[in-house]
Amino acid sequence: MTMPVPLELTGLAKIFPSPAGPVTAVTDVNIRIAAGEFVTILGHSGCGKSTVLSMIAGLERATFGGVVIDGTQVIEPGPERAVVFQAPCLLPWLTARQNVALAAERAPRGARRQTPDDYLEMVGVADVAALLPSSMSLGTQQCVALARALSAEPRFLLLDEPFSMLDSLTRFEMQDTLLRVWEQSGKTVVMVTHDVDEALYLADRLILMTDGPSATVGESMTVPFTRPRSRAAVLADGRYHGCRRHVIDFLDGHAKQWRGGLRA
Ligand SMILES: Nc1ncnc2c1ncn2[C@@H]1O[C@H](COP(=O)(O)OP(=O)(O)O)[C@@H](O)[C@H]1O
Ligand SMILES: [Mg+2]
Repeated sequence: MTMPVPLELTGLAKIFPSPAGPVTAVTDVNIRIAAGEFVTILGHSGCGKSTVLSMIAGLERATFGGVVIDGTQVIEPGPERAVVFQAPCLLPWLTARQNVALAAERAPRGARRQTPDDYLEMVGVADVAALLPSSMSLGTQQCVALARALSAEPRFLLLDEPFSMLDSLTRFEMQDTLLRVWEQSGKTVVMVTHDVDEALYLADRLILMTDGPSATVGESMTVPFTRPRSRAAVLADGRYHGCRRHVIDFLDGHAKQWRGGLRA
């Protein structure tokens, strides 16, 4: 018996209009994601990672192909998917608790067992519940944004370079928080990043994108490290260097191909 695939991208393409004519950002993207899997989409800036994630989120419509969840094509946002963007995007006039409470209203009936403060606690920022975003660091705001996404009790967590604006120590802390939350929640995570080490530390599988225009999936790479993971154990794993080398070679190769193409 074949297992049902909860999230499937089939022949996905996005063409944007531009003054110089239509531009194909991504084309023929085929990805099947299993329930509970942690997948990162990795590629150079501008290759179409956010475009793919936006189509999964239902914020952009595919030009060709589609996003299928539980066998049904999705064309708009839905309560089973929550997105965290690069910038925290909290409502500035609401406290952390109120920001989370607003999103919690989207949770399916019966699913909501926890209070906004529980979600803040889950990501380690219960102490800022009564504060406005303007009085929090960027890292704390992004934790609140993650709590807000979790409070909608989505099955799919869609993350678009959520830690890229943070300094490296805060980023490490946030990666650990996300890893712990994911291990405990069983959610399916699709995370866009251009950080090779972040992808290798967090994901079960890396989707390596070729460069745009007309970017597509170049390779799907399984990450071999056992779970639960710790940064120290992953860095000490004999396979780490080889995995990192493989991804960097892939990205390098595609960047050269692209630049070569421009020069030609
Ligand atoms: N709304 C839009 N209109 C026109 N072009 C867009 C739009 N959004 C993205 N693009 C183009 O699509 C390509 C992929 O963009 P994006 O998905 O943001 O890349 P990434 O997230 O990998 O950096 C880029 O060339 C970008 O300029
Ligand atoms: Mg992007």
